[in-house]
Amino acid sequence: MNQATVVVAVMICITAVRGASVHSVLVRQEGPHCIVKGDPHFETFDGYKYTYMGFCSYKVVAWCGEGVTRPMPLITVTTRETNPKKVGHTQVISLILRRFGTRHFTEVIPDDCSFKLNGREWTTFPYIWPAHGSVHKEGNIFTIESYGQYKVVFDCKIHMVDIILTHPDAIGNLCGMCGNYNGNDTETDELQGYESIDALATAFKAPDPDPGCR
Ligand SMILES: *[C@@H]1O[C@H](CO)[C@@H](O)[C@H](O)[C@H]1NC(C)=O
Repeated sequence: MNQATVVVAVMICITAVRGASVHSVLVRQEGPHCIVKGDPHFETFDGYKYTYMGFCSYKVVAWCGEGVTRPMPLITVTTRETNPKKVGHTQVISLILRRFGTRHFTEVIPDDCSFKLNGREWTTFPYIWPAHGSVHKEGNIFTIESYGQYKVVFDCKIHMVDIILTHPDAIGNLCGMCGNYNGNDTETDELQGYESIDALATAFKAPDPDPGCR
């Protein structure tokens, strides 16, 4: 069986684990996961959980391995306040995915679930880029795959991002808000040398439509 088709069919209710109110049901696929959802809550590939309320764009998965001098962003999220009257909640308002090794990128924008391919609106699914990747859309759920690198399931109504790594050399070569994926789930290790979650987020800020974002 193909790894991607092994549907573990575990109906997990992540929010119940964290005591929040919105339930979500997702089909958990095999492989290391990083999840960004809600306030947002982050769960790194190594399993460390934290909450970071940012109002900017952040590199959640970046390549820090051999041959790069600066983190190369693979996946970035933009988060904003959900409702200015309801202080204390932010959510993912844009998700950008790059195919490492190319200039190709895709972007998904909730809540209208619109999709851009290299900056242009794209509405025909599935979109297949031979030997490189694919984008499937079913209802509110996008499944975007960069072959041999990662797969992302994004619910554009619940604003939940589930990143599953498929890159064979990712171990120990990643950085960003999804952690370094080195098998160590301690906070100190996942902070990647930074002194706090705030410092980590600042270090992994990505260009944002609002240059003054915090
Ligand atoms: C995990 O990382 C922490 C912080 O760097 C370190 O103190 C600890 O020894 C590491 N644990 C393992 C099992 O490598």
